[in-house]
Amino acid sequence: MSVVSNDVRLPISVERYTPRLIDGNLAGRHIVSVEQFARADLDALFRTAANLRSRVNAGDKTVLKLCQRRIMATLFFEASTRTDMSFQAAMLRLGGEVVATAGGVQFSSVYKGENLADTVRAAGSYADVVVLRHPEVRSSYVAAEALDQLASRLRTRSVVVSAGDGVGEHPTQALLDLFTIIDFKHQADGLTITLVGDLANGRTVHSLAKLLALYGAQEVRLELVSPASLRVPATIIEFVRSRGVEVHETRSLDEVIGRSDVIYWTRVQQERFADAADYAAIADDFIMTPALLAKAPDDAILMHPLPRKHEMGSVHDHAILDDDPRSIYFHQMQNGMYVRMALLAGVLGATG
Ligand code: NCD
Repeated sequence: MSVVSNDVRLPISVERYTPRLIDGNLAGRHIVSVEQFARADLDALFRTAANLRSRVNAGDKTVLKLCQRRIMATLFFEASTRTDMSFQAAMLRLGGEVVATAGGVQFSSVYKGENLADTVRAAGSYADVVVLRHPEVRSSYVAAEALDQLASRLRTRSVVVSAGDGVGEHPTQALLDLFTIIDFKHQADGLTITLVGDLANGRTVHSLAKLLALYGAQEVRLELVSPASLRVPATIIEFVRSRGVEVHETRSLDEVIGRSDVIYWTRVQQERFADAADYAAIADDFIMTPALLAKAPDDAILMHPLPRKHEMGSVHDHAILDDDPRSIYFHQMQNGMYVRMALLAGVLGATG
């Protein structure tokens, strides 16, 4: 469900905008694509996330000092539960504050016809970091440019963190997904990772596939299982292959489930279909059920970015899947908060 009603066409300049590499230093960086991260940046981020998780679990109050007196603004132009709340909880657990337009963005000036860049500049003039979810691909690039322009006029500088831009990328989801894979499998080398479902519109798989390639794990095999009409975009497959990841596309889950170390299930993104008949034609193609999970190895892990619908079977199936030790989507969900804590502390230059 998109709540945007104004003109969201993007300025031409974002075609040329290239996100800055992290290059060992998160402080002050906009986070808009996984392509900004190299192996060393990921290792450092994951170490920080694991460290923050231990400290939070141990009741370490010094964590609350990390982002004290810092403010995060949230601008969510698309529905969200986990991403929105985990960013907010992350900031609060770092001792920071959160602002949003009262009543959500549907009560912001966007609905008076304000353009995205101006809305972002408003948020950026009040907050140190702006978290943006928006239905347009590359909208976070618009935000990054707008905030850089704002910084050239004001004495303060705010950064944007993308919380998902349309069918494009969802960088923080990929970061938490890879963190969770390494958490459970101890490394990424040698894994067969099977991505299933709406691989065309599912931005989480776009970012995860690219991030796995950027991580540079050895002998990773990606199995892409989707209806023919919902395949991973060719540019992403090329990107991943060019970095040495073996990619195999199939419609047959039976062919791959028995040798998958990681099974990453996704929802068919109904809200991205213009034609209800196109959605109905493939909506039931890949349904995870306890009977299907029984075919997976005992040490496989079942992931899902959530929310889930019928692609994880009935509510009764959900309950059985939830009790299977291979289902780790609730850990994945909570890890999102720790990874976002590490990221927020990083971009805000908080150490300690
Ligand atoms: C996903 C999203 O919004 O891209 N969820 C999430 O961020 N955890 C996946 C989805 O909506 O299906």
